[in-house]
Amino acid sequence: MDVRESVQEAFIKRFGKPADLLVRAPGRVNLIGEHTDYNDGFVLPMAIDRSVWIALRSRIDRRVLISSMEMETPGDFLLDDLHKDGSDWFEYLKGVAWALKEDGYKLQGWEGVMSSDVPVGAGLSSSAAIEMATARAFAQVVGFEWDPVRMAKAGRKAENSWVGVSTGIMDQMASAACQAGHALFLDCRSLHYENIPMPDGISVVVLDTATRRGNVDSGYNERFQQCQTAAHFFGVKALRDVSPQELIEKGKGLDEVVYRRARHIVTEDKRVLDAIDAMHAGYVDKLGQLLDASHVSMRDDFEITNEALNIMVSIARLQPGCYGARMTGGGFGGCAMALVDAGKAENFSTTVAHDYQAKTGLTPSVYVCYASQGAEVVV
Ligand code: GLA
Repeated sequence: MDVRESVQEAFIKRFGKPADLLVRAPGRVNLIGEHTDYNDGFVLPMAIDRSVWIALRSRIDRRVLISSMEMETPGDFLLDDLHKDGSDWFEYLKGVAWALKEDGYKLQGWEGVMSSDVPVGAGLSSSAAIEMATARAFAQVVGFEWDPVRMAKAGRKAENSWVGVSTGIMDQMASAACQAGHALFLDCRSLHYENIPMPDGISVVVLDTATRRGNVDSGYNERFQQCQTAAHFFGVKALRDVSPQELIEKGKGLDEVVYRRARHIVTEDKRVLDAIDAMHAGYVDKLGQLLDASHVSMRDDFEITNEALNIMVSIARLQPGCYGARMTGGGFGGCAMALVDAGKAENFSTTVAHDYQAKTGLTPSVYVCYASQGAEVVV
């Protein structure tokens, strides 16, 4: 039974009648453009075929009842009396309800069962998927139009101000606005986006190292601060406004570590733009080289990879048919990804999983993933 069926069955068990709606919102893998989102820069994520699903039924009152097939404690909250209450998983849902209300939406209650096959803490945006599935549920129950940018902003606000985790807007935008078969080129300043077709004959392989970020927030927040310091030094709003030339000419006075952080962001923005050109032109080799360069920059300048990620990426790069590989997401553990010739993806996956396990003693998850549709109503 797949998630879509089991979540509907679980709904009947819990509420005694069938759900009348099923929504889903995907996780994402980022192809390139890491930590550039909160620097007003460019990103290129792709929604994956791993999602959060919610089977639901609207209520006439203003109460939300939600259970999860993966979590024990069910959530129950009133839309007129939202307050943060501990750190249970359903705080994400409350946070989204709060953020939508703050944005002026009039909400209505519903009851639902949620299930997710997006791995948690792997850098594939399981929380953004919960946020966008929740927003999709509210949009459908209340009957407001799905505005991906507004919804992504609400999701980010829930994450930053309600749950209390600092993030940019990439994950929510990917989950809200991607199209099947496409990656999402997003300008994180204007929030203008374009759906870019994925090249033919290429598989995106997710390489989960089975390591999880430890105290990720401190590392993430520290990078955020260092980027702010660098932007301040250059006298600009965000590092997006610094060109590679300016970085070299004016960056001398910066602290050495902060300089390297800035260099990652400035060069990564350029790599995203080059990646878009490569995709439009069908230059997969070039795209692969940009991915490789991105990994080196994250390893040496931004310092957000761990040993497992570096080992995974170097094993992937040795395999026939691999165009490029890099860690993906926030970093400090989690997943890498590789662009692989579709005909070789199966052998690639088996060999990489085997060699990684032999080298590290860790059991990875390696799977081909497909560019899926962003948040949607399924029935
Ligand atoms: C996390 C954050 C995103 C982004 C990435 C790094 O996934 O949620 O906003 O900053 O890290 O690119």
